[in-house]
Amino acid sequence: MSIQGKTALITGASSGIGAATALKLAKNGVKVGLAARRADRLAALVAEIERDGGQAVALEMDVVDSASVASGVAKLAEAFGTIDILFNNAGLMPLSDVEALKVEEWHRMVDVNIKGVLHTTAAVLPHMIAAKSGHIVNTSSIAGRKVFAGLTVYCATKHAITALSDGMRIELGKKHNIRVTCVQPGAVETELLEQISDPAVRRQMEELKTQMEFLKAGDIADTVLFALQSPSHMDIAEVFVMPTQQAW
Ligand SMILES: NC(=O)c1ccc[n+]([C@@H]2O[C@H](COP(=O)([O-])OP(=O)(O)OC[C@H]3O[C@@H](n4cnc5c(N)ncnc54)[C@H](OP(=O)(O)O)[C@@H]3O)[C@@H](O)[C@H]2O)c1
Repeated sequence: MSIQGKTALITGASSGIGAATALKLAKNGVKVGLAARRADRLAALVAEIERDGGQAVALEMDVVDSASVASGVAKLAEAFGTIDILFNNAGLMPLSDVEALKVEEWHRMVDVNIKGVLHTTAAVLPHMIAAKSGHIVNTSSIAGRKVFAGLTVYCATKHAITALSDGMRIELGKKHNIRVTCVQPGAVETELLEQISDPAVRRQMEELKTQMEFLKAGDIADTVLFALQSPSHMDIAEVFVMPTQQAW
């Protein structure tokens, strides 16, 4: 189906997968609300989209804070009228072994990766239910399908997103004509590894880049576009996208 003229809220739009998807959707005629904390990055992206003839609004938003989310969603609805697409993509991956007891990092992952998705969904869903249509795309991960040593809490948060996605699809599809897609990428070259505070773990993860060709953020943007453009009777419920060379 055509997404021309629709409005999307994209969280985590200041870099990586979110920024690439914002550019891709804007090129396809979607009016995009760009949500993240780094306002300078968002302003630069708005300028780039507008230069290319697209429409975008910067929404300085911390997904952990439900009041910040509500005010960003209200600003987007005021700017463009409706919210047809929600890309729940903001996330963190500060990896460490459980025995390191980085409890504050565990909390941050739960707050951003799970509660952030709940906050934005709660703020946007009433618009979609009123419109009797919508599409929610959630960024889970290969870590939302499998568990890896050293990624335990991150895997738990991404498994939660996989479960939430399927539950939302079941509850919202037939009753409210809202489609839900769960995207599960393998390794993508973005700024995600910068959140890792343990230098040895960070080095180990960075070394993976010498062993295989990572996906590009644009590859995931293409995947999101594919799901959004699928016919309205069809819900691409789950997409597992891997680098060809990622053999685990
Ligand atoms: N890269 C991979 O290999 C990979 C694989 C599978 C899944 N993923 C998932 O893909 C998603 C996007 O990550 P990425 O790889 O594109 O990494 P990234 O470049 O680090 O992007 C993460 C985004 O999340 C935003 N964010 C973080 N905390 C936030 C908060 N409290 N409120 C609002 N926004 C917040 C960041 O913006 P600000 O810092 O400006 O707020 C940034 O825009 C994440 O959910 C990640 O778990 C990534």
